[in-house]
Amino acid sequence: MTANWTVNSWRGKPIGQVPEYPDQAKLDATEATLRAFPPLVFAGEARNLKARLARVAEGKAFLMQGGDCAESFAEFHADNIRDTFKVLLQMATVLTFAGSCPIVKVGRMAGQFAKPRSAPTETIDDVELPSYRGDIINGIEFDAERRKPDPDRLVKAYNQAAATLNLLRAFAQGGFADLHQVNRWNLDFVADSPQGAQYAEMSERIDESLAFMEACGLTGDAVPQLRETEFYTSHEALLLWYEEALIRQDSLTGDWYDCSAHMLWIGDRTRQADSAHVEFLRGVKNPIGIKCGPTSDPDTLLKLIDTLNPENEAGRMTLISRMGSDNVHEHLPGLIRAIDREGKTVVWSCDPMHGNTIKAQTGYKTRPFDRILTEVRRFFEVHEAEGSYAGGIHIEMTGQDVTECIGGAQAISDEALSERYHTHCDPRLNASQSLELSFMIADFLKNRRIGNGKRIAAAS
Ligand code: PEP
Ligand code: CO
Repeated sequence: MTANWTVNSWRGKPIGQVPEYPDQAKLDATEATLRAFPPLVFAGEARNLKARLARVAEGKAFLMQGGDCAESFAEFHADNIRDTFKVLLQMATVLTFAGSCPIVKVGRMAGQFAKPRSAPTETIDDVELPSYRGDIINGIEFDAERRKPDPDRLVKAYNQAAATLNLLRAFAQGGFADLHQVNRWNLDFVADSPQGAQYAEMSERIDESLAFMEACGLTGDAVPQLRETEFYTSHEALLLWYEEALIRQDSLTGDWYDCSAHMLWIGDRTRQADSAHVEFLRGVKNPIGIKCGPTSDPDTLLKLIDTLNPENEAGRMTLISRMGSDNVHEHLPGLIRAIDREGKTVVWSCDPMHGNTIKAQTGYKTRPFDRILTEVRRFFEVHEAEGSYAGGIHIEMTGQDVTECIGGAQAISDEALSERYHTHCDPRLNASQSLELSFMIADFLKNRRIGNGKRIAAAS
């Protein structure tokens, strides 16, 4: 059991990035309601994910984490969940096949609702209202009533998360993720693009390999991995009243798990050593991520890891670097060296989204696709130079044909952003940009594998 920790010990610590609820009694009642609801995930599943992430930390697998910046009540639809899942499957297949590397698949889905904001209020035409903080907290409409934090939204978010997770489990295990379906995951609007064609070519090769394996007796019946996949969920553990209400004690081990998702992370704005968010996550046994932006310094990071993972358990910590493409060379090597020097076991993942957000001339918040690619490339280069393992990617993406990030093979321009800009928070990669990124990462994985092979051959 974690020393001096209880499910609500976070309540005594400084807390940032959460709303002030006007109706405390209603919040208390909502928490009680949620505490009586079933857990969304099981402790055993979170433990399995930790074991998978331990393989990543060892350099034997790769983490792919992706989904919405903010899930919304308005975009809640089976087709949207299916399409995002399809793109994640496509990306994972590209990485597995081209990179010959097992991929650990984690969605920013089924609970990614609460958002940290750069300012507590927003002013339009002299009217000042609380900022939108995600559908689990308040409404996005610029209207005094809608912007009021409302505890009923926690229950609505829970219900949406439960239904989303139910569908994801069915997709992952009910035949949809069967590798024989690989060519059917290409979305119509992607199929005609260069990435769509490259994907179709790859799926033909996979089909051939499957036919060969089948002839050898390795069918989906004999090898379940061919017909189903493991898929995990994650979100930022930000709205701690919701998270606490979903903590459950595992009957097998007596340990506490936050059963709102398999993996939780701490955002770049709430990772202070004495923060309520760190205190909360310290005591639950799920795999934990920490976002590391350019202000992350080696000593503070090491202390944070000592607090969150005192036993240096493999698979517990994922460090998600989100430096911005221009800052990777300056800030990442120091963090990697500190982690190596102290012998900390971590997964290094790259979020190339949050450090590369700009305001387009048209006023939209956007991310240039080339900066996203550059941050990923530099992440791999720095790890290669430091002799450490670049273990994952963390992206904001959707299966919808949106126009939110400029550039990519479709060459989305500033002017085109308004065509299909739907995000409730940050700009996401669309399906073809996601695929384009995964082909680039697959090349890194492939080169690393070939490079390692050569090093082993040279040494023997
Ligand atoms: C996010 O992942 O949506 C986010 C807010 O990231 P960060 O904490 O890295 O800014
Ligand atoms: Co975001």
